Amino acid sequence: MILVSVAIACIVSCGTANKIDIIENKVLVPSPIKYDGVESLLKRMTLDEKIGQMNQYSGFWNATGPTPKDGDAAQKYKNLKSGLVGSMLNVRGVEQVRKIQKIAVEETRLGIPLIFGFDVIHGYSTISPIPLAESASWDMDAIKLSSKIAAMEAAASGLNWTFAPMVDISRDARWGRVMEGAGEDPYLGSKIAEARVKGLQGDNLSDPLTIAACAKHFAGYGFAEGGREYNTTVISGDILHNIVLPPFKACVDAGVATFMNGFNQMNGIPVTGHAKLQRKILKGHWEYDGMIVSDWGSIGEMKVHGYAANEKDAGLKAILAGSDMDMESYVYEKYLKTLVEEGKVDVELIDDAARRILNLKHELGLFEDPYKYCDVEREARVIGSNEIILATRNMARKSVVLLKNKNRGLPIKANKSVAVIGPLVSDKNSPLGSWRIAGKDNSAISVEEGLSKYKAVDWTFLQGVQLTTEPTHFVLETKINENNRTGILEAVAKAKEVDQVIMVLGEHGYQSGEARSRTKLNFPGLQQELLEAVHAVNPNIILIVMSGRPLDLSWADEHIPTIVQAWQLGTESGNALAEIIMGEYNPSGKLPMSFPRSVGQMPLYYNCKSTGRPTQEENPDVVFWSHYIDEENSALYPFGHGESFTTFTYNDLKVSNTSSGFIVTIQLTNTGNMAGEEITQLYIRDISASITRPIKELKGFEKNMLQPDESKIITFTLTDKELGFYDNEGNYHVEDGMFDIMVGGSSEKVLKATAERITVDMTP
Ligand code: BGC
Repeated sequence: MILVSVAIACIVSCGTANKIDIIENKVLVPSPIKYDGVESLLKRMTLDEKIGQMNQYSGFWNATGPTPKDGDAAQKYKNLKSGLVGSMLNVRGVEQVRKIQKIAVEETRLGIPLIFGFDVIHGYSTISPIPLAESASWDMDAIKLSSKIAAMEAAASGLNWTFAPMVDISRDARWGRVMEGAGEDPYLGSKIAEARVKGLQGDNLSDPLTIAACAKHFAGYGFAEGGREYNTTVISGDILHNIVLPPFKACVDAGVATFMNGFNQMNGIPVTGHAKLQRKILKGHWEYDGMIVSDWGSIGEMKVHGYAANEKDAGLKAILAGSDMDMESYVYEKYLKTLVEEGKVDVELIDDAARRILNLKHELGLFEDPYKYCDVEREARVIGSNEIILATRNMARKSVVLLKNKNRGLPIKANKSVAVIGPLVSDKNSPLGSWRIAGKDNSAISVEEGLSKYKAVDWTFLQGVQLTTEPTHFVLETKINENNRTGILEAVAKAKEVDQVIMVLGEHGYQSGEARSRTKLNFPGLQQELLEAVHAVNPNIILIVMSGRPLDLSWADEHIPTIVQAWQLGTESGNALAEIIMGEYNPSGKLPMSFPRSVGQMPLYYNCKSTGRPTQEENPDVVFWSHYIDEENSALYPFGHGESFTTFTYNDLKVSNTSSGFIVTIQLTNTGNMAGEEITQLYIRDISASITRPIKELKGFEKNMLQPDESKIITFTLTDKELGFYDNEGNYHVEDGMFDIMVGGSSEKVLKATAERITVDMTP
């Protein structure tokens, strides 16, 4: 019956391609789908079919081409037709999705539809700024909208599930995946996690322009030792509960549909097989009723970690720990049934996992209409629409951080001669960042294209030096030019002639992201040499830094008056940057991660604990205090830092007590001569607690647009939610005592007051 109505719906909404489906549907009548709720469906399913739901394959053949005849692909195809697959990833586009869905719905015994997942991490076809960049906006509405747009494009392309948001807190810029997260702070990270989940999922998962989100990687992946990808993590209870878990909890509270575990082991247990994390905390204490997918092959990798004797043992440990779906390990499909038959796995665990997966399919509305995401007309209308492009540009502008603007180098003045130099000036690929598989190569607006629209300036664009030596690719090592100096002399000669130089340097988009750890945080290749050569002839430089992580900008900070952190801003990169360079947009981004003075400071984060010897001895020659003998402790640009074309001042910090917390007010004034947005940040320090607390913890922020001379009183409320903390076992405490309360425009520039929290006994 359902297929008949699908067919009718298709006549109304589909193009010619789908008429073929309608004819084919007639051949297949009667419909195999008999759906009368998840529980009833579960009762009709065989053990094989339930385990099949727990099995996810990556797209293994072009569904519009011939069907696989031999090898692994043929076996997978057979499994698909036998109802032994619950989900596919990396299949996209309405045509492909529809073809594969049709097999699941029409050729399997029960006709259970598949869910289609994909890494929609920063946009789908229209690429938005990398998540770390978006986080610099501290703008939850904009981030929510960006996620909503990503979901719209993905859903229009046939998908109904993304493996995002990645909410791993990380304090180590060497780790390439910092580009994918929200930075180093759990409070900001939790707000962003919530915005992303709500943006992706909307109010109703069955809306065909929303998709299911996935909080990943549960948990601790961002603490990879040495910043080396996939590496071991050692995480104390304090750090786990206060730093790592809060953004995941925020996802649960926001109604996230799915979770993904991860590749790392934590304190000796791979997180994919970590029962305490998945069964006790997530599915237990947090009462999460969605499903958990493994990371790619991470069930099988437990054997390599030395945690499972063989694949079968890995499967046993994964299911017992709570992993519901096996992404690309092929372990569940091979061993789960035997494990049940041997009595090692209770069938209730299989039922529970299958139920969670089927519930998601139900919520997505796939049982009503398995092809609801497969509308070619919608696909053409939504993807890359004008509204999406404009919103993406807006997000890109908001993501930019003005690190310094000493001589008011920015905005630049018209009628000047400007040489724009650097390997990333004309690059249309690198600004797309790392997770942009569905984005078209070379589809970003380059800085050259963005600036060329402004005819009042006499522009010259020069590469200066090449950054890469070979075509770049998501799965391949990026080859950096270390020897070819062609272009440097020409760039230097031009720099000598012009009034102003803009340099666009940084990392290639494929130098951050998964498996892109670095031991150096400098400009790769010959870029520093180019910068210094140009600087020697014309120090009037505006430096635009494109990178997927905080870089060590110490030399630049010392020598270059204006520095802009431009991350990888996606499709609209060049347009957004041009608007800032020309002063049409006043930047307001603030850093979500500390920028180091040296890679040797890693891990570096503002919310650190105090040592017993945090400050220098009176006699500066005495060494016995917590420091490096060759570098300062502080960040070069701290968390929360970011300037504007205007200036802001803070006055009149006031703190008053409530029954169990504080009300904090401060006056913010725009003291410059341009309208601008300021992100005001509230930090606390619990001065003495039963578990030591960080020297500063973000507990509130507000973004305000102020006209010149305009003032505003900003009010924050601190309650038990902000003032408490978790102990090593995960119990929450709120303790009376003295608190430092700090408010300002960065984690370092704050006004401070001290106040005492005294709980007022309200019992009569
Ligand atoms: C990554 C995940 C991603 C998955 C599927 C893995 O390598 O760690 O974040 O979602 O691949 O592409």
